[in-house]
Amino acid sequence: MSKNICFIDGLEGILKYREIDINQLVELPYDAVSYLLILGELPVDQELAEYSSRLHGEREINREVMDIIRMCKLNIDSMEALRTIVSFISQFDPDINDSSPEGNLRKAIRLIAKIPTIVAVYYRMANGKEPLPPDRSLSHGANFLYMIRGSKPSQLEAEVMEKDFILSAEHELNASTFSSRVTASTLSDLYSAVVSGLCTLKGPLHGGARSEVMNMIEEIACPENAEEFILEKIAKKEKIMGFGHRVYKTYDPRGMIFKQLSRQLAEAKGDMHWYEIAEAIENTVIRELVEKKGKPIYPNVDFYSGVIYKYMDIPPQLATSIFAIGRVSGWIAHCFDQYEKKKIIRPRAFMLDEC
Ligand code: CMC
Repeated sequence: MSKNICFIDGLEGILKYREIDINQLVELPYDAVSYLLILGELPVDQELAEYSSRLHGEREINREVMDIIRMCKLNIDSMEALRTIVSFISQFDPDINDSSPEGNLRKAIRLIAKIPTIVAVYYRMANGKEPLPPDRSLSHGANFLYMIRGSKPSQLEAEVMEKDFILSAEHELNASTFSSRVTASTLSDLYSAVVSGLCTLKGPLHGGARSEVMNMIEEIACPENAEEFILEKIAKKEKIMGFGHRVYKTYDPRGMIFKQLSRQLAEAKGDMHWYEIAEAIENTVIRELVEKKGKPIYPNVDFYSGVIYKYMDIPPQLATSIFAIGRVSGWIAHCFDQYEKKKIIRPRAFMLDEC
């Protein structure tokens, strides 16, 4: 692949996928960004139409998969269900043993298309509702919201969901992408590599932070309580979820876009409550940790995305799975890059001291 999959400047707060700035990318459909990550270039209209039609046509899951989802205990974390089912569905993929670039692309399309369906079907079953078939006419974001809710989302909600998937799609060698790449480096199949990514994303220091943010906002309950809550956490040396980053030592550009989107949703719904709690948390953290203590602890991608889910009635149990729906395109882009290298990743133990 000629272009870098991802570029991050953690000091200036710049993020690019394949040399295109994240602020431009969020104006595109998720399908176009997925194509860009996996195939290396933005699609022209005809290419995008064909890619979207293939993706939308692969959303269905078969009866056996539905039966296995039904057998999952219905109070487990949706990430546990997702990693189990993604592993299970590999046996139905006719290309499972075809490791050619074409075979891998067909698998990639099936994975990207079916993961939202699995998440939505499990969610509806876990809530005692009949699962819904996917709607091919809808975008990735609108279809997912439709499948969990049973009604079509507003245009703004559908756009926000698309942007959420785009902002979550790729972030260089984060922990889950590294896991996927290590698995791909052994020339294991794409399903195995994606399951590795899912297992790693699940942890609260990575993708799991989003649901913790939602729980924190819920617990704080009103903007007036935020300052005291955060001061207590800081006094106890506890980490505040949705803040801090290994790479960004300034505002995370994704966090800033999520902040604008959450404000837009709050205004459209005529309800600033969750947004004001979040802003009160942010102001306290910035004042106490950045300004007073000089620590670069800014809101990360998980903070205002948690606020968005509050406005879209998405429960915390789905937050990490939604991250996975977006991130799978990034994992696959890295796996393809790794397959081309045909070289195993095998760090030495002493390197762990630097992590
Ligand atoms: N709240 C309060 N203090 C913090 C936070 C936070 N969220 N994050 C870092 N610090 C402090 C930490 O206590 C330490 O202070 P000291 O030097 O006095 O001991 C210092 O900053 C360095 O912390 P660290 O844990 O060594 O930093 P790191 O670069 O290893 O960790 C991080 C990065 C994201 C794991 C961490 O900031 C964190 O745990 N944040 C909360 C969880 C979170 O929001 N995770 C999502 C990360 S972004 C999305 C993703 O990658 O999936």
